[in-house]
Amino acid sequence: MNKIITTTFFVIIICLIGYVGTKKTHPQKNNSTDMSHDYNSYAQPENAVVKHLSLNLNADFEKNILSGYANWQIERVNNANEIIFDTHDLTIEKITLNDDSTTTNFELKSVDKILGSALHIPISSTTKSVKIFYHTSPNAAAVQWLKPEQTAGKKQPFLFTQSEAILARTWIPCEDGPGVRFTYDATIHCPKNLMAVMSVADNPQSINASGEYHYAQPKPIPSYLMALAIGEIAFKKINERCGVYAELPMVDKVAWEFADMGKMVDVAENLYGSYAWGRYDVIVLPPSFPFGGMENPCLTFATPTVIAGDRSLVSLVAHELAHSWSGNLCTNATWNDFWLNEGFTMYFQFRIMEALYGKDYSDMEANLCVQDLQNTLKDFGEKNPDTKLKLDLKGRNPDDGMNDIAYNKGYLFLRLMEETVGREKWDLFLKSWFTEHAFQSVTTEEFVDFLNNNLIQSNKEKFTKVNINEWIYETGLPANAPIINASRFVAIDLQIKNFTTKNELDKNATAKWSTHEWLHFINNLPEKLSQKQLDDLDAAYHFTGNNNCEIADAWYYLCLKNNYTKINSAMEKFLCTVGRRKFLLPLYGEMNKTESGKKLAKQIYAKARGGYHSVSQQTLDEMFGK
Ligand code: BES
Ligand code: ZN
Repeated sequence: MNKIITTTFFVIIICLIGYVGTKKTHPQKNNSTDMSHDYNSYAQPENAVVKHLSLNLNADFEKNILSGYANWQIERVNNANEIIFDTHDLTIEKITLNDDSTTTNFELKSVDKILGSALHIPISSTTKSVKIFYHTSPNAAAVQWLKPEQTAGKKQPFLFTQSEAILARTWIPCEDGPGVRFTYDATIHCPKNLMAVMSVADNPQSINASGEYHYAQPKPIPSYLMALAIGEIAFKKINERCGVYAELPMVDKVAWEFADMGKMVDVAENLYGSYAWGRYDVIVLPPSFPFGGMENPCLTFATPTVIAGDRSLVSLVAHELAHSWSGNLCTNATWNDFWLNEGFTMYFQFRIMEALYGKDYSDMEANLCVQDLQNTLKDFGEKNPDTKLKLDLKGRNPDDGMNDIAYNKGYLFLRLMEETVGREKWDLFLKSWFTEHAFQSVTTEEFVDFLNNNLIQSNKEKFTKVNINEWIYETGLPANAPIINASRFVAIDLQIKNFTTKNELDKNATAKWSTHEWLHFINNLPEKLSQKQLDDLDAAYHFTGNNNCEIADAWYYLCLKNNYTKINSAMEKFLCTVGRRKFLLPLYGEMNKTESGKKLAKQIYAKARGGYHSVSQQTLDEMFGK
């Protein structure tokens, strides 16, 4: 008895020491929320976890349905008597175990609007694999089925998926959290004249006559990196390990725009260790793709709005490539740790850009990001909990956390570390972070511990003024945020001054401006401009209907703020072709601020909505109060 009491006493003391220890490192830890638990998934991988997926799907372009099976090899961890999958809008036809022909019972729980329905399947000690026969809904949120007229070629339909953050479950029953990794192989059946590509290194490079394609991804990945695109796609080689895919009429332009891809991979490897995924390819999708890019392993998915014709928007490739380390190798454990994916990737992206195009150039891009961050902080309010790097998305749609904070506050935090210890030590540290956590999912707290043990402790005097906890667990932007001077913007500021004080527009001075210089110019003009000033700007620089989507978007936004209606038809055309959410939100948002604008916004949205991917539709539906 005495022994039990003494042991209990020691256990309590040890627990207390442990508790105080963690408390010291992570003072903001909220005890009601388990830091590594994924509240955006129903799966319980701690009880039964997936290891390998064999996917077999047929793409039916008549019915807009994917159908077939997902055969999962699983591992039972805790003598669990069931395995739980995430599903959303899937019709489960039947389930068999161990490739047996007898079907097994299953239960599909009630639907949650954000999370979908949990699929419970009974298992036993002998269950090695679970084969789920199913089909998707035509409205599956991840999948966009495009009609031929929505493509560049206009002759064939197109399909693409977007799984991040929690949409993989709308086309594959899976343990849909970034903390679970698996390898996969797949077979896709599609119409004979189309090509299908996935997030693998062994994609086809030409259309095959049978309409059947096979794939293998031998590296373990989380479900949000599952991806599929089908269309009249062509391939063009850049170098031995890189190439581009695009619709046939686009592929040459894309190959020209992304000619530096191969060099980007070399530069990235030099910085933070060898590329782990075999090939690195990019596919440029039709304009309804809702993001700039998506880092699907081996095959980045990208918007055609970066094909500017002057290679000025290639940092998108640097960004998605950088995710091959920050994100795909070393993955945020839950969506609350999203900044570990995106903040690190922004930092890495700028380092690739600096190595290839110089610091003047990369700092110009970084400076624009900081301007965006400042606007977001102003919109959100400095005390808004969503301005913390570590998020709390329990009970919410993870999409709510996917904004400039993770990207640009995250970036500034890492840049501050670099400035604090110097590039040499920082680079070694970062490389070891990626290498030691390769193919793992990591929490913010694990990063903080790794940082403490591997950088701060050996450089204590340098870190006295960096308050790590403030950066990660508090709102707003800490006062010691690095200032990013963009020397190339000095000349732009002068042009703005000449225009606003003397009404001067110098075409010669602007002749060599890159997209970034134009963006800085447009975004930093006074908020209020007269109709005459806007006329003059447009006459000199032809912003309205500009083929560069970044420039057109920034211009329309400025015009909306000034009620300059001469843009309306060009803006409508833009909104009816491009589905990239980053462009849509500011424009619709600004229109919605006035009564007449609201009317126009509704009119345009009614025409354009059908052409947008569900990710954009959903955000805009919310804005329009649908
Ligand atoms: N992984 C993101 C896209 C994403 C984020 C999809 C959250 C779904 C949910 C991708 O790497 C990204 O950050 N894209 C940016 C590119 C930009 C920062 C160069 C985009 O789409 O604008
Ligand atoms: Zn990213």
